[in-house]
Amino acid sequence: MTISSKRILLIIGGGIAAYKTLDLIRRLRERGASVRAVMTSAAQEFITPLSVGALTADHVFTELFDRQDEHDVGHIRLSREADLIVVAPATADLMAKLAGGLANDLASTALLATNKKVLMAPAMNPLMWSHPATMRNRATLAKDGVLFVGPNKGEMAESGEAGEGRMAEPLEIVEAVEALLDASPKPLSGRKIVITSGPTHEPIDPVRYIANRSSGKQGYALAAALARLGADVRLVSGPVSIPDPAGVKTTHVDTAREMKDAVEALLPADAAIFVAAVADWRTESEEGEKIKKVAGEGAPTLRMTENPDILAGIGHHVLRPYLVVGFAAETRDVVQNAQAKLARKGADFIVANDVSHAGGVMGGDRNTVRIVSKSGIEQWPEMGKDEVAAKLAALIAERLKTVEV
Ligand SMILES: Cc1cc2nc3c(=O)[nH]c(=O)nc-3n(C[C@H](O)[C@H](O)[C@H](O)COP(=O)(O)O)c2cc1C
Repeated sequence: MTISSKRILLIIGGGIAAYKTLDLIRRLRERGASVRAVMTSAAQEFITPLSVGALTADHVFTELFDRQDEHDVGHIRLSREADLIVVAPATADLMAKLAGGLANDLASTALLATNKKVLMAPAMNPLMWSHPATMRNRATLAKDGVLFVGPNKGEMAESGEAGEGRMAEPLEIVEAVEALLDASPKPLSGRKIVITSGPTHEPIDPVRYIANRSSGKQGYALAAALARLGADVRLVSGPVSIPDPAGVKTTHVDTAREMKDAVEALLPADAAIFVAAVADWRTESEEGEKIKKVAGEGAPTLRMTENPDILAGIGHHVLRPYLVVGFAAETRDVVQNAQAKLARKGADFIVANDVSHAGGVMGGDRNTVRIVSKSGIEQWPEMGKDEVAAKLAALIAERLKTVEV
């Protein structure tokens, strides 16, 4: 998918997150889009038109009543000549203005005088975001067809503040822009696909847990690739440190049992893909208090019990999706183990990868996989996880082609 030669009108509001918008401009331009910026007067308190203009390589528009600008381009042409309008950061004030139909400066006038899609990336203090007035404005704007990316949960720029209100990261905004401007075919449109990703954390006591090295990158990349092909993707993710993929509905869980419940609650679905590295075992019971180190008593013995096998459960479920795909992370006998898994788990195919230390797959950006199915083994060359994801998404689309929606 490409946004090369697309024209973005970027409206920059007056919030601390405006500094991230400078990076957003760079990211959009390195993908070949042209960016024309409008800054509110509050935005200029945070970043300067000079830096914005240097990055857009274009004039920066700031005034509604600028005779020269109005003569050269004009506020109507500004919004009409764009393929998409992006507001980042979208302040509570800009949201309120557009929801109320106000047009008393260049930014709000351009937003009202357009027939193009508008994508807002809100950024504000969590209390401002959750205020009933902002929630009302957000609902009104969504009803009017305005699209949103973020805000995310996390630390605010203001010290000591955290919650929902952080502007989406520049790359998330770019992904949302790409998705909106994407006119490519959508072979998975109308398909619901459930996918799991990441590790699980199995608690030992309130502070310790059993985990593994899975980063969630491959599953997240596949979820995004399936969404790009038009699928309604429901991702169930274990604890990871990467942002939710764009265009995907993500549920966060910790343990294998929570992951199983979340997946089952999402059935029926057309396909289910199990990328998560689910812990095979958990401790028999979770201690209510931190296990203390007692001098002379040595190390405690942890008694383990098996976790539910989510893939096998769904592979044999009464609501079994048409297509069930498992991932097999092995450190040796990769193909033999994948073949055994295929039959045992009721999967249509297994994506087998070697996760021994030397391969650097867990946590890394590259992967070498084999597709193991009843009809044989297909070895794919080493690729980036995004490329593996795109190829797998195409394979899944192909497999679902003949199934009625
Ligand atoms: C230091 C500082 C940080 C601010 N950060 C935000 C913010 O992140 N989000 C927001 O909606 N308003 C924020 N405001 C308030 C806006 O700047 C103010 O509402 C302004 O009128 C918005 O104008 P605009 O919507 O035309 O850009 C901040 C104000 C100050 C002084």
